[in-house]
Amino acid sequence: MEKRALLYEGKAKRVYKTSDEDIVWLEYKDSATAFNGEKKATITGKGRLNNEITSLLFLKLKDFGIPSHFVEKLSETEQLVKKVDIIPLEVVVRNLAAGSFSKRLGIEEGNPLSKPLVEFYYKDDALGDPMITEDHIEELKLASTEEVEFLKKKALEVNEVLSRFFGELGINLVDFKLEFGKDKEGNILLADEISPDTCRLWDKETNAKLDKDVFRRDLGNLTDAYENILARLGGSQHV
Ligand code: C5P
Repeated sequence: MEKRALLYEGKAKRVYKTSDEDIVWLEYKDSATAFNGEKKATITGKGRLNNEITSLLFLKLKDFGIPSHFVEKLSETEQLVKKVDIIPLEVVVRNLAAGSFSKRLGIEEGNPLSKPLVEFYYKDDALGDPMITEDHIEELKLASTEEVEFLKKKALEVNEVLSRFFGELGINLVDFKLEFGKDKEGNILLADEISPDTCRLWDKETNAKLDKDVFRRDLGNLTDAYENILARLGGSQHV
C-alpha cells in the first residue's frame, strides 16, 4: 500500500489517500487539545499510545462481532482504515456520572447511573459540538430514525464489551465517545479512535484518572497514564 496526498488534518490525526481508493492512511499526532481547541500542547509519545490502544480495542471489538473501519496497524503511529463518510454525530455512552453530565445536572462525579446512558452531540467545531436530540438529528437530516436506533444499539454493545474488558484489567470505563461512518456500500462502521483521549478510564482501586482529564485538569503526566492503560491491555506486541 502506498501513502499518497494528505486529505485532511484534524486535531489529533492526519488522513492520507492511498493507492487503494477504499482505504486511507491515518497518522496519529503528538498533539493534545481540549475545550474545543482552546487548550493545546504537544505531548511526545501520545500519538504512538493512542494508535496502539485504538488498534488493540478495535481488534477486541472485532473478536466480539463489532466491525470498525480498522484494517491494520502499520507502525507505532500509523494505521490503515477503510474510507468512510463520517456521520457528524458524537455518540457518548456513560456508566458513571462525570464531566459535562455532572456539571450540567449537578450530579457528583463517580455516582453510578441506573443504566448506561446514550447522548448525541452534533460534530460542529463552530457551534462547539452541542448536545442534540433525536428530533434535532432528524430535522437536520444528519441520520434517519433507523440509523439513530442502530447507533444507539451499537454504542451499547461496544459499552458491554469494553466495560467488561477494562473491568477485568482493574479499570472502570466511566464514559466514552464514539464516531461512526458509512462505507461506499452504505454500511455503518465504527470509526475514528477509541483511546484515553475519548474515554474516561479510572483505576478501580484508587480512582486515579488514566485518561485525557489528566491533561484537561492538569492532574499530572499524561503519557504515564496512557502507558499504564497500554501496559494493562498487554502492550503493543499483540497488534
Ligand atoms: O465532556 P463529556 O463529559 O461530555 O465527555 C464524555 C466522554 O466523551 C468523555 O470520555 C470524553 O473524553 C469524550 N469526548 C470526546 N470528544 C469530545 C467530547 C467528549 O472524546 N469532543
